Amino acid sequence: MNDRRFGHTDLHVSEICFGPMRFSAKAPGDDDQSRTGKRALERALERGVNFIHSSYEYGTRWAVGQVLKDHPQRHNLHHIIKVPVPDFDDGGVFDATQFRRRVEQALRDLHTDHIDVIQHLQRAQPNTDELRIPNIPAVHEPMMAVFEKLREEGKVGYLATFPYAPGFAAAAMKTGDFRGMVAYYNPIEMEMAGFFEPMAAKGRGFFCIRPFMAGLLTDRRVDRRRLPADDRFGDERWDAAYDRLGTLQSALGEDVTSWTAFAIKFALCHPIVTSLIVGLNTPAQVDGVLDAADGNYPDLKVFDKALEIFRAQGPVSN
Ligand SMILES: NC(=O)c1ccc[n+]([C@@H]2O[C@H](COP(=O)([O-])OP(=O)(O)OC[C@H]3O[C@@H](n4cnc5c(N)ncnc54)[C@H](OP(=O)(O)O)[C@@H]3O)[C@@H](O)[C@H]2O)c1
Repeated sequence: MNDRRFGHTDLHVSEICFGPMRFSAKAPGDDDQSRTGKRALERALERGVNFIHSSYEYGTRWAVGQVLKDHPQRHNLHHIIKVPVPDFDDGGVFDATQFRRRVEQALRDLHTDHIDVIQHLQRAQPNTDELRIPNIPAVHEPMMAVFEKLREEGKVGYLATFPYAPGFAAAAMKTGDFRGMVAYYNPIEMEMAGFFEPMAAKGRGFFCIRPFMAGLLTDRRVDRRRLPADDRFGDERWDAAYDRLGTLQSALGEDVTSWTAFAIKFALCHPIVTSLIVGLNTPAQVDGVLDAADGNYPDLKVFDKALEIFRAQGPVSN
């Protein structure tokens, strides 16, 4: 498994980051899904994945913790966690105690003494840029104070923003304190791709979330007519994404034999992308993804072509 460096920092992580959002039941137990999910994480670690994404919001950290507790690789792993402060219902007020609590809770749950990347989410209700951008100054200063304190204590490494939208991304990166960005990115969701060049010039890094667009860009699902009846992508909220996939299939079709492999290779073709946070639920899914992350990626012409389509047709909601 190849490693990449996070911007100009000293953090090197595997090109694939384990995403546990759907990999176990939400409550501790010994059900089939959780057993398989835990085997998937063990398989990923065995094959060289050294980077794990997690959030208390998923309800699946208990299963990550069970795998890591006595794992021989435990001290060689890197963690990225979500820290949403202020959260949707906090009225935009930053609470330093809550920020620290989220970090301390993750350290305990993950049996580690260090979180490498804090993925900061500044939320509002409604979660619009109109509310969030003007609130950056009020949040940023107290956040940096508690972050720096945690850093001095050796508990955290770097701060990255999950901006939700390009307007907030531009404003957050302007503070100069975020070492990079964490955002959805795949051939359909390219909202943040316009930041890649300026961020790279400043030594920033990018963590890609959901390179399969939650599972749509996989061989099982790209042909919607063949979806299992109860599949989550049958829902009409995915109609626009399937329309856009049709456009991409016409434009890129000749280069793509497997969409599962292509989605991984596509997301890794831009050098600013440090690691892909992929939802991995079974050992077979881990093998499929890690086989695709083989260092053999398309050149930037494919990125340019997808970006051209995105710019011509605009974002797709789901
Ligand atoms: N706001 C945030 O910070 C945020 C939001 C969303 C997600 N995340 C993080 O990002 C991670 C990834 O998001 P995601 O799971 O929604 O999207 P994703 O990585 O694009 O898609 C993952 C889904 O693809 C399918 N899959 C995985 N490997 C496969 C393979 N080799 N072959 C075929 N299908 C495969 C699985 O679906 P099936 O098992 O159903 O087939 C899996 O659930 C999450 O686990 C979470 O850690 C963060």
